[in-house]
Amino acid sequence: MDAIVVKGNGPLEGETYASGAKNAALPILASALLAQGEHQFRNVPGLADVHTMLQVLGALGCDSQRLSGKSKNVVQIHVPAPGKVLPEAPYDLVKTMRASVLVLGPLVARYGRARVSMPGGCAIGARPIDQHLKGLKALGAEIELTEGYVEARAKRLKGATITFDLVTVTGTENVLMAAVLAKGRTLIENAAKEPEVEELARVLNKMGARISGAGSDVITVDGVDALHPVDHAIISDRIETGTLLVAAAITGGNVLVRHAVPEHLEAVIQKLRQTGCTVTSEGDGIRLKAPARVQAVDIKTHEHPGFPTDMQAQLMALLTTAQGTSVITENIFENRFMHVAELRRMGADITTDGHTAVVRGGAGLSGAPVMATDLRASASLVLAGLRAEGKTTVSRVYHLDRGYEQLEKKLKGLGANVRRIKER
Ligand code: EPZ
Repeated sequence: MDAIVVKGNGPLEGETYASGAKNAALPILASALLAQGEHQFRNVPGLADVHTMLQVLGALGCDSQRLSGKSKNVVQIHVPAPGKVLPEAPYDLVKTMRASVLVLGPLVARYGRARVSMPGGCAIGARPIDQHLKGLKALGAEIELTEGYVEARAKRLKGATITFDLVTVTGTENVLMAAVLAKGRTLIENAAKEPEVEELARVLNKMGARISGAGSDVITVDGVDALHPVDHAIISDRIETGTLLVAAAITGGNVLVRHAVPEHLEAVIQKLRQTGCTVTSEGDGIRLKAPARVQAVDIKTHEHPGFPTDMQAQLMALLTTAQGTSVITENIFENRFMHVAELRRMGADITTDGHTAVVRGGAGLSGAPVMATDLRASASLVLAGLRAEGKTTVSRVYHLDRGYEQLEKKLKGLGANVRRIKER
């Protein structure tokens, strides 16, 4: 297994860039199942989770290839005729990445049946898919849960009004992908408003779907009989952008993150400004200039456009170095403080009580061997290592590789003392 070794090395300076968005790429790659033929997706990040999604599509009968050379982030997917698609997503793939459940909607809509392993939970929570299934049932799918698999069948899905009990990003995406081929009109109420949901709707409309309202809490879909393949460049990753901005903030640096979209990160940008950082749009990116030490701020995670849960761990790392005390409330997942114990090992003063963490800043961090437990927790430990005195070794960085394309290379390009090593 790989580990990342970081040594505090002063302020990060210079220019880097955000890769394509993981949480847009995953549903978009799954949506290829909706249209037979040759799809081409650009700006597809080279991530473990993307590789897993392509493996799932391969298991279903869709071959794919990543073009090499300068266009290395281009993925081509061949979707065969319906008869050649085996609509079964196996457990060994789904268990490595729960977002594989995103093939469920497209499979039922286009092939009339699907057998997808239940994704199971992960480190940050139980992560049920009851809302996904509620939406598909409302569209007329018959759903059975047998031997840990979801079996779904439908002759032809029929449009319906679906009101989610809670806001779910992939639940909205799964139902949206099913509705585009349903007969008649579908209303998705209490829909997720993340930029990645809007991007998926953009791609589906390019394929011939008729969707309006994506990005608001009511999405309207008028079903069509067929869709056609698409060539699309995926938006950049707002969470990677935010992570790189925090790398500048935690080291008192001055960094420009290119290919970044400020509108996708408003809540994070406002919080970083509240800590005393200057954040400005510059060309096709976002520049952050940080004071030597930031100020404490309180954070509450919420669905978009609120503060994203995927940035909570990274801000916590920053706030351990702040002047003053911050209160962080995690409202989305039940167990997303796994990074707290590891940050404490580095000398951070954090106490947690249920969904709330109190971060007393200023103690100064010291390098230590720490362990990554989930994707964003691993990023927060690397960030803390950038500021800590001495050496920090973050083990189990396969968690990091799920969602960040060569993070250590990007940080090194900004002057960080960071390298990847092979551990036993
Ligand atoms: C998406 O996960 C993202 N993943 C997550 O990013 C992100 O943290 C999350 O949205 C919230 O923004 C992808 O887009 C691939 P949810 P998702 O359904 O869709 C509960 C990362 O770090 N819920 O919006 O699985 C659920 O348990 C990852 O990139 C139900 O109860 O999240 C959670 O408490 C981590 N029943 C809340 O809703 C359901 O049927 C929000 O979950 C579905 C969800």
